[in-house]
Amino acid sequence: MQIIDGKLIAEEIKNELATEVKRLKEQNLKIPYLVAIIVGNDPASETYVAGKVKACEQIGFRSTEIRLSEDTGEKLLLEKIIQLNEDEEVDGLIVQLPLPKHISPEKVIETIDYRKDVDGFHPVNTGRMMLNLPSYIAATPFGIIELLKRYHIETEGRRCAVLGRSNIVGTPVSILMSRKAYPGNATVTLCHSKTRNIKEITLQSDIIIAAIGSPGFLTGDMVKDGAVVIDVGIHRIADPTKKSGFRLTGDVKYDEVAPKCSYISPVPGGVGLMTVVSLLKNTLIASKKEIYG
Ligand code: GUN
Repeated sequence: MQIIDGKLIAEEIKNELATEVKRLKEQNLKIPYLVAIIVGNDPASETYVAGKVKACEQIGFRSTEIRLSEDTGEKLLLEKIIQLNEDEEVDGLIVQLPLPKHISPEKVIETIDYRKDVDGFHPVNTGRMMLNLPSYIAATPFGIIELLKRYHIETEGRRCAVLGRSNIVGTPVSILMSRKAYPGNATVTLCHSKTRNIKEITLQSDIIIAAIGSPGFLTGDMVKDGAVVIDVGIHRIADPTKKSGFRLTGDVKYDEVAPKCSYISPVPGGVGLMTVVSLLKNTLIASKKEIYG
């Protein structure tokens, strides 16, 4: 059994990006610039956005965090987005989700210029991904694909079960795994809350991507010997023995599942660490205008 080390790969990619920034600086070329908007004071969102801005600083990207109060009107937010769409300095623009209830996330996402949508949430980018055209791919699916690639995991002709059909992870990763590409070319089964007898499906699967949002959902008896398991879940479980008062766990019962696997990505230390670097990679792509010119 080999552990898929998200921390190691994320560091590797950050180093690659830092080297690229150094080259851009030496050649007096444009430095990638990411703007992140956060509305309100959701503590998890604050942590995520701070992590994104810090990662930009670490590798030498420009970044700005725009903080708007919880009671910001939708109109004002949309106007701010339009203003940033028009700002030629800005390469990537993200609005952290979730938003306060009075703001429509769909409207916000569709207002972001798809050419700056480094989150890959805009319908133009999700549609182009489905058609196997160049597009920004959302951070978590991008991170999963990158891990499979960097560990040279064979996917062609393999059976892949994706557990969970969210817009952000399950649905896009199921499309990516079935695309005519590497990683891809797998025979994918997308399982969800209405799927009958998930165990029958997972037991036949060479690759299982667990993004169902239920702690410890995938148990040892659901996995065949030699499977590749990618755990996308992230849950805080109360643990008084920890200083923080909690520990992190995923959608996979790691102790039972890991001994059966050829490869497994753990929680923490797996996919989660890849998401920020995926966003940075998209920002670099945006800055170089590699997709939309
Ligand atoms: N909220 C949770 N994940 C994400 C993400 O990847 N991007 C944005 N904008 N908001 C999120």
